Amino acid sequence: MNRDLHNYRKSYQKGTLDKSDVLANPMEQFRDWFHQAEISKTVDEVNAMTLSTVNDKGMPRGRIVLLKEVTKEGFIFYTNYGSKKGQAIEHNSNVSLSFFWPSLEQQVIIEGKAIKISEEKSLNYFKQRPKDSQLGALVSNQSQEVKDRETIENRLAALQKEYESKEVPKPDNWGGFIVKPEAFEFWQGRHSRLHDRMYYLKIDNSWEVKRLQP
Ligand SMILES: Cc1cc2nc3c(=O)[nH]c(=O)nc-3n(C[C@H](O)[C@H](O)[C@H](O)COP(=O)(O)O)c2cc1C
Repeated sequence: MNRDLHNYRKSYQKGTLDKSDVLANPMEQFRDWFHQAEISKTVDEVNAMTLSTVNDKGMPRGRIVLLKEVTKEGFIFYTNYGSKKGQAIEHNSNVSLSFFWPSLEQQVIIEGKAIKISEEKSLNYFKQRPKDSQLGALVSNQSQEVKDRETIENRLAALQKEYESKEVPKPDNWGGFIVKPEAFEFWQGRHSRLHDRMYYLKIDNSWEVKRLQP
């Protein structure tokens, strides 16, 4: 199927970004943009981000995960450590996170290192999740092949019965990663493709900001 998509064109005009507008600390800048995106109520799943990893064969892969916490140290998401992303991170902890908020014409890209959070913190979060999500984590060997959907549904039904009146245990291979940022880019769409891009790089524990060409 050939599709000509050349006519998809949009002029960006929702905002501007200058060195004098951005905060010296990119974590604070992120919190500010994230908050604005939340209160705008125009962004569906504002915490959905693309996590990109590189596996042991040098092959990149991006997929959406949900940002669950922002701390002073970084960005936390939860997953199955045995999944493709988990295995890739084990081999190469360099990752990228990116957010695209179309209604605000904004993109944020974060580069950094992903590190497993403590078992205790993962357990605390697991306990707060609804039972369905807990069982979902238990039922799935994420990223492994399965014969058909029925196999998974049957496994879930068996687990629902088993844990009807018991606490669901956190699977050993399920938990969080924290991405500790080393660089940030804040991108604001502008007219004529002359977008604003502010790039922060961490140098000796402080942040340097540069404007990048669009
Ligand atoms: C909106 C959305 C949110 C998602 N959130 C998560 C998440 O927080 N953790 C997760 O492991 N997978 C999440 N997924 C599923 C992943 O995109 C992916 O399919 C899964 O983690 C397996 O990826 P992998 O095989 O590359 O490891 C989400 C998908 C979507 C579309």
